[in-house]
Amino acid sequence: MNSTLVSTPLADIDTPLLAVAVAAGTDLPVSLGPLDQASGRALSRAMASGEFKGKRDETVFAYGSGKARRLLLVGMGKTNEVTRNSVRRAAGVAAKRTRALGTGRFAFAVCAEARNGIATRDQVQVVVEGAAHGGWAFIEMKRPSDELRGAIEGVDVVVDRSEAAPAEAGRALGDAVAAGHVLARQLQMQPGNVCTPAYLAEQAQALARSHGFGVTVLGPAELAKEGMGALLAVAQGSAQEPRFIALEYRGAGEAAPVVLVGKGITFDSGGISIKPALDMDQMKYDMSGAAAVLGTFEVLGRVRPKLNVIGLIPSTENLPSGTAVKPGDVIKSHLGKTIEIVNTDAEGRLILCDALSYARRYKPAAVLDAATLTGAIVIALGSQASGVMGNDDALVAEVRDAGERAGERCWPLPLWDEYRDLVKSDIADVKNSGGRGAGSIAGGWFLREFVEGFPWAHLDIAGTAYTDGDGPHQAKGPTAFGVRLFTEFLLRRAGS
Ligand code: BES
Ligand code: MN
Ligand code: ZN
Repeated sequence: MNSTLVSTPLADIDTPLLAVAVAAGTDLPVSLGPLDQASGRALSRAMASGEFKGKRDETVFAYGSGKARRLLLVGMGKTNEVTRNSVRRAAGVAAKRTRALGTGRFAFAVCAEARNGIATRDQVQVVVEGAAHGGWAFIEMKRPSDELRGAIEGVDVVVDRSEAAPAEAGRALGDAVAAGHVLARQLQMQPGNVCTPAYLAEQAQALARSHGFGVTVLGPAELAKEGMGALLAVAQGSAQEPRFIALEYRGAGEAAPVVLVGKGITFDSGGISIKPALDMDQMKYDMSGAAAVLGTFEVLGRVRPKLNVIGLIPSTENLPSGTAVKPGDVIKSHLGKTIEIVNTDAEGRLILCDALSYARRYKPAAVLDAATLTGAIVIALGSQASGVMGNDDALVAEVRDAGERAGERCWPLPLWDEYRDLVKSDIADVKNSGGRGAGSIAGGWFLREFVEGFPWAHLDIAGTAYTDGDGPHQAKGPTAFGVRLFTEFLLRRAGS
């Protein structure tokens, strides 16, 4: 998807669809007067119908005689509650409608009365992000047909001529985030027979080539030499070889890097502790953390902020077989701690713990991991927020703050000492599952057992990485959760 800036008065914009985001209210905002006039009062008529009150996600089409073939009003709710998240969402709603119409591209404006003080740069950024989000579609595995509609081509963001410089900064940033988003969703969407650990590694290598990142890929022999016993234990039931991927972006010389870790289970059957058949196909999304990390590197390659970032992706399938790891088996992790694997379906923490241990060599300023780790977080928070846990309250607050700006919310769960007992084992240093209660915290505590010497925060994105239904602003399926949050986090750390 591409984006451009337009500084023509609304009434003079020649476009198949002009969407205008407005706040709640029953009267047409004064600033839309000229557009209304030019359209032969089509907007006034739409408002007068009573069908549209500007509530969040509300839309109404108006067909008039002006330059724009169609007008679309998109509601954002009360003016004083409008944030950059409302604007992003409204752009997503408009993009989704545009895609359904098949017009290819659309122009988008935020009505002056509804801006609520949002800076131009932020506003343009989120419009482009929202457009990419709402206009996305995955059709490449279907036979071409006339009805089939792909992603939208682009968005033309309406801005005031006097704000060209900040608008262009926001557009460029939004474009970069959108590209990261598209990559992440593309990877998430690929089925397990395409997106294997080797495939993810190839994607990382391709990213490294196009942006000049450092990249290291470890296969089975190197993993054994490195002592990654937990990752290898999960991989031993599968015919697909595991990979461990390390990407390096250097934008600040020798400064301590931020390390991003993403769970890369390309299919999670549960292993010997096999999952029920219902919805098991969704477990192709168990590499969504890895997709978020790769998507973020796409953004980094385009924005090139002044900081250092390492991306670590442990990747394998989790399948049952005669060679698979069994409940009760005890294995040795990269850190040296032994692990009793009481449930082979708690495999994400096993591959992540070796990555967290590997991260020590970078002497990180902070480590963030994103993982579709527990079904329990879906029960606790549904699809509105990811769970966040960590060993450093300031870092957790910083992550939540980035999530707020990104429109990717995180809600904290406690890692109190008392919960540590959940992962105590009779036979080994730790066990990988704590039973039914506090499942997401048990996952968090297990990971914490492998964090040595750096501030760390863990995002449990099992409920947010994909949706199983359409929303007004996004299609069913992958959401690229984490790309925007990581980007906001990193850019603020880089001071840009
Ligand atoms: N990948 C799953 C978690 C998951 C569940 C993601 C639902 C998305 C939707 C993870 O590997 C898993 O199976 N977790 C187990 C842990 C349990 C065995 C301790 C779970 O949540 O049931
Ligand atoms: Mn599992
Ligand atoms: Zn899993």
